[in-house]
Amino acid sequence: MADAEVATAAVEGEAPEAADEAPKKPVDPDFEPEIIVFACHYCAYAAADLAGSMRLQYPTNIRMIKLPCTGKLEVIHLLKAIEAGADGVYAAGCLEGECHYLKGNLWARKRVTHVKDLLAEVGIEPERVEMFNMSSAQGARFAEVATEFTERIKALGPNPLRREGVDTHAAAREALGDVAMPDDTAPSAATSEEGHAE
Ligand code: FES
Repeated sequence: MADAEVATAAVEGEAPEAADEAPKKPVDPDFEPEIIVFACHYCAYAAADLAGSMRLQYPTNIRMIKLPCTGKLEVIHLLKAIEAGADGVYAAGCLEGECHYLKGNLWARKRVTHVKDLLAEVGIEPERVEMFNMSSAQGARFAEVATEFTERIKALGPNPLRREGVDTHAAAREALGDVAMPDDTAPSAATSEEGHAE
């Protein structure tokens, strides 16, 4: 099985092969990870704007994709980002109890946990995927999470599925299809029903 197929195969229940035996790579001090952030429009995306307004520093390693709610994020979206070679991926949703679609962030947390389990099964560090919660007023938390997660991924080293010439951000965005929002667009008048992926 090709390396790039390992993560997706886990979803389909195929037995992992070579990924179990992947040796640990030595830490490269020059390694600059590519990190995809699936950011809820209402909270994390707004918190990033606030962090910018506050002139808070955070790593440029993170690249965001705006969502109407993290509840729109499916397991396959997270796996596709990893499969494309993203070194780290996290979902950033509203505080628990404050999701505009009620339980979207709770669904997202469950899916992130499931993806962690799948990655562990195929020999990829589950720490590469995470879920965070924050409010739109938490610009400092946004910067802190981005900084700490980037440090975590630097310590882990490159994603073993990383390939030369693959634009991880574009691949992750493409996998999302219509779920991803243009960077300069507010969410449409979605109902709470639409905000949930389930
Ligand atoms: Fe922000 Fe659901 S996570 S609206």
